[in-house]
Amino acid sequence: SHPVRLIVVSNRLPVSLCKEGECWHVETGKGGLITALAPVLRNRGGDWIGWTGAGADVDLRAQLKAYSRQEGYSLHGVNLTEEEVHDFYHGFSNEIIWPLFHDFPSACNFQQAYFDAYLAVNRKFAQVVVGRSEEDDYVWVHDYHLMHLAQKIRKLGGERKTGFFLHIPFPSQDIFLKLPWRRQMLEALLEYDLIGFQTFRDRRNFIRCMSVLFKDWRQYGRGPVVHLSNGIRTIKVGYFPISIDFREFSTLARTRESAELAERVASAFRRRTLVLGADRLDYTKGIPQRLLAFRALLKKYPQLRTKISLVQIVVPSRERVPEYQAMKHRIEGLVSEINGEYSEPGWVPVYYLYRSLSRDELIGYYRAASIAFVTPLRDGMNLVAKEFCACNVDGNGVVILSEFAGAAAQFQRGALLVNPYDVEGVADALYAACQMPPAERRRRMQKLKTTVRKYDIYWWVDSFLGAAFGKKLEDFPAQ
Ligand code: UDP
Ligand code: G6P
Repeated sequence: SHPVRLIVVSNRLPVSLCKEGECWHVETGKGGLITALAPVLRNRGGDWIGWTGAGADVDLRAQLKAYSRQEGYSLHGVNLTEEEVHDFYHGFSNEIIWPLFHDFPSACNFQQAYFDAYLAVNRKFAQVVVGRSEEDDYVWVHDYHLMHLAQKIRKLGGERKTGFFLHIPFPSQDIFLKLPWRRQMLEALLEYDLIGFQTFRDRRNFIRCMSVLFKDWRQYGRGPVVHLSNGIRTIKVGYFPISIDFREFSTLARTRESAELAERVASAFRRRTLVLGADRLDYTKGIPQRLLAFRALLKKYPQLRTKISLVQIVVPSRERVPEYQAMKHRIEGLVSEINGEYSEPGWVPVYYLYRSLSRDELIGYYRAASIAFVTPLRDGMNLVAKEFCACNVDGNGVVILSEFAGAAAQFQRGALLVNPYDVEGVADALYAACQMPPAERRRRMQKLKTTVRKYDIYWWVDSFLGAAFGKKLEDFPAQ
């Protein structure tokens, strides 16, 4: 174990807020970063610094303290003003970096004011980190909102050992080089001692961009963690596919409560083949294309009508960004078109849930579903695919997975990999999943489970910190 204190920093604390009357109530937040990191902090303890999601005028210290006690690690809130939320969070983070890094350059809204706010907020976070940490602490920064943090810490005179992990993809050079602030971005990343990506391909993209913009930096070594050096400064760059607490999910899925919940879901669907999609409402998740593929399936294979239903859970997200509002309308339009076209008495093809489910409810759906339909156009990793495997108690579930999800690198042999843009191809994969002999389904699910069990979130944290503290890394998953 590592004796150093962990200071985890991410834009969002692992909480989401809801207002009950005049009081704010704090509960566990949504998204892959939180699902992955919360068990790590619970397991090791440490500090987590981030934004609460509330306005600067809301005092949440008492609630955070209570939540800290309950979870066994400390939470520290960073306040953001209304303007900072607009320019830094919605603006630079979610209208520039998010679309660009997910290969949607045309959705980017490049604005200098957004970048200025990004630098200012990164500085603000740096002040909190420097104030709350000591020199021997390890500052572990997460995700695209805080790529300049190490640089800002150093500018404030703080000497800290720092690591950065990018939860989203790193784009190819053709796309990254469109960023007006591309040099500043890479220069800032070079201030970290270790940079971690999800996959080999993300790291390769990063190193290629480096070699285009910074001729004096070279790569040394090979393997999951390599060095980059300009002869003066050397940093480590690695890839570490993030994961889930496999044992926790698989234990929860086996409880009597989950069995009952799954039974309720299965009987409500009259034991038809249940296909499950579960995503934040995000244009990167490929939900419209997935619905089109499901429609193509019903058209092309009429024998499946009334035998199969798609349950699509959509979790509200970033509702103030225009692209997200448009996407909601598009999805809802398609759902009603498909249902209007194919529904029959006693059968509805698509069930659409627009809300966030509790973990227990979600596990009930995972258990009840026979096919996970995971078709993002781009995704850093995608934990839904891993959670489905951990919760597949019967051991015969099928995963249909986009080849553009980070998880595809680990799921090559177990999942049915698809190109989410190829609507007919996805429909055929869905048909193949419905027709797959039980023995093959079991064999594939066994492979997937073995991978997710072995490379779980604790493997991930040990690999990253092992790299940070110079331990030799063995036993990386094939990429
Ligand atoms: N999730 C949830 N409630 C829901 C649907 C999803 O808590 O109703 C969680 C899910 O368990 C998963 C996370 O949201 O851990 C989504 O992570 P993923 O990596 O798939 O995508 P991200 O949202 O991070 O892009
Ligand atoms: C993804 C990102 C996270 C983010 C989450 C939810 O998982 O990688 O950094 O927290 O989405 O998005 P939000 O904008 O609500 O924080």
